[in-house]
Amino acid sequence: MRIAVISDIHANLPALRAVLADIKLQSPDLTVNLGDHLAGPIDPVAVADLLMEGDFPTIRGNHDRWLLEPPGGELTGVDRFVADRLTQEHYWWLRTQPPTMALPDIFMCHGTPQSDEAPWLDHWWTGRMHPQPDEAAVAALADGLDYPVLLCGHTHIPRAVRLKDGRLIVNPGSVGLQINHGTPDAQYAILDRVGGDWRAQQRMVPYDRAAAASAAEANGFPRWRAALITGWESPEGLF
Ligand SMILES: [Fe+2]
Repeated sequence: MRIAVISDIHANLPALRAVLADIKLQSPDLTVNLGDHLAGPIDPVAVADLLMEGDFPTIRGNHDRWLLEPPGGELTGVDRFVADRLTQEHYWWLRTQPPTMALPDIFMCHGTPQSDEAPWLDHWWTGRMHPQPDEAAVAALADGLDYPVLLCGHTHIPRAVRLKDGRLIVNPGSVGLQINHGTPDAQYAILDRVGGDWRAQQRMVPYDRAAAASAAEANGFPRWRAALITGWESPEGLF
């Protein structure tokens, strides 16, 4: 059994196309999507169309939720840009997406099982001082979830940990927006069940970053250029 895991596409069409092409080469049985598909200034409409066509098991991220339920009743910045472009059909598709999903062996969430805004496997945006929580903190949030594999996204930091009880938790990183960790390449994960054990591998896929950066600029979001081109920028000011 082989599963491709994508997350945090953030409307980056060139990155998504490159990742889907790489996934095809990996011949998975299934591709799953952990949310934050559309919140980006590149091409949210084409990304939504492509994902609807792919019909992957999909959960919503915090930005997808905000499109349906604007925080404080109003969207701003990138989220406003996206909302202004989506069709009724796109909104119907977003409404079908649950916050979490369980497949045989696999539990999917965006941030943590309890929250689409909290980070699970890293805390780099909280003071930047203690980027990795200890095993007890990670395991506490997995309490009661009897699945050999737990998936999360949201932080854009790829990481896989194995709890002391053997459960594997994987954050595949972000397809469309690399922040603060030093590679601009699109990221996703491949899971394989070999015998009774699940194993994870991270994939890094180069793509046409200049095209993505130019589209972001042309759409009025020049701050995205450096983030997309280098992968070393912080997320402050992007949304
Ligand atoms: Fe997110």
